[in-house]
Amino acid sequence: MKIIVLAGGLSDERDVSLSSGSQIANALIQKEHQVLLVDLLEGFPDATDFDSAYDVYKKDEYKFEVPEQAPDLSELEKKYPCELGENIVSVCQSADIVFLALHGGIGESGKIQALFDIYQINYTGSSHKASAIAMDKLLTKELVAFHGINTPKWQVYKEGIEVSLPCVVKPNNNGSSIGVAIVEDDKELEKAIEEAKKFKSDILLEEKVSGREFAVGILGEKVLPIIEIIPKVGFYDYKNKYQAGSAEEVTPANISKNLTQKMQEMALKAHQILGLSGYSRVDFMMNEVNEIFFIEANTLPGMTPTSLLPQEAQAMGIDYGTLCETLISVSLD
Ligand code: DAL
Ligand code: MG
Repeated sequence: MKIIVLAGGLSDERDVSLSSGSQIANALIQKEHQVLLVDLLEGFPDATDFDSAYDVYKKDEYKFEVPEQAPDLSELEKKYPCELGENIVSVCQSADIVFLALHGGIGESGKIQALFDIYQINYTGSSHKASAIAMDKLLTKELVAFHGINTPKWQVYKEGIEVSLPCVVKPNNNGSSIGVAIVEDDKELEKAIEEAKKFKSDILLEEKVSGREFAVGILGEKVLPIIEIIPKVGFYDYKNKYQAGSAEEVTPANISKNLTQKMQEMALKAHQILGLSGYSRVDFMMNEVNEIFFIEANTLPGMTPTSLLPQEAQAMGIDYGTLCETLISVSLD
């Protein structure tokens, strides 16, 4: 197959995406596909269709490591006033599929998906509408709560409101825990709000659930085994997510059959309510009395060396390369 792996872009999760994209591209090259990894910002200035791009941009292997801190995008914002690199549409139109290794920004919010729908370009993952809903944590919580799925209580931050503490402060439209803080008192709250405001989105204040953290992948019609995440220090923040050895992950999670079934059912129900397709990863917390809370659904879950979905697939005997091919086939169905 002729495959474009699209990564990078002007998202806070740009580096995570370049890591996912490099791994995906390498795995698909190993499977003998014709593959090009491209940064959404760069495009293909020297080519206008897949074959000519393949001649110019083909590589045998890609490499990228996620730094400890999320990137500062200010220089890139100046350099690339347009988030869509040159000839992206024409080159993607002549590929068999675009593998979206994008995370956050226009790559996960439904905008790229809508553009590709207009140009009849095949892509992996959910539709533009479902992507837009799932990228909006507030809307997602409103929808799943309406359908009876348990989720931590929440408020939208506004100047002067009375905030229930402790809580988790989150920019509404971001990922990889960027801008997220767990706050116990007013002083920490004030600092966390200042931080979260930098991300130019609504700020979600979510009741803190103390306990264990889990994720459940959906792959086509299948619900994957549950993974438990145990960070060595603090919570599962950006550093603990992407620096190897910072968190322990256990698959399948060591919880009862009953709780496993309940969490997997909640994951599948959330995936369906949000209208997701192909694949997703749904995140949960569980408190000391085994009450399960839906946190969010990710339409383009990480595919980096430390990411969760590949570990869940591996626990079912699906290796990374086969997972990438399966993500393509479930998206073309
Ligand atoms: N947003 C990151 C990439 C994830 O959900 O894995
Ligand atoms: Mg997320």
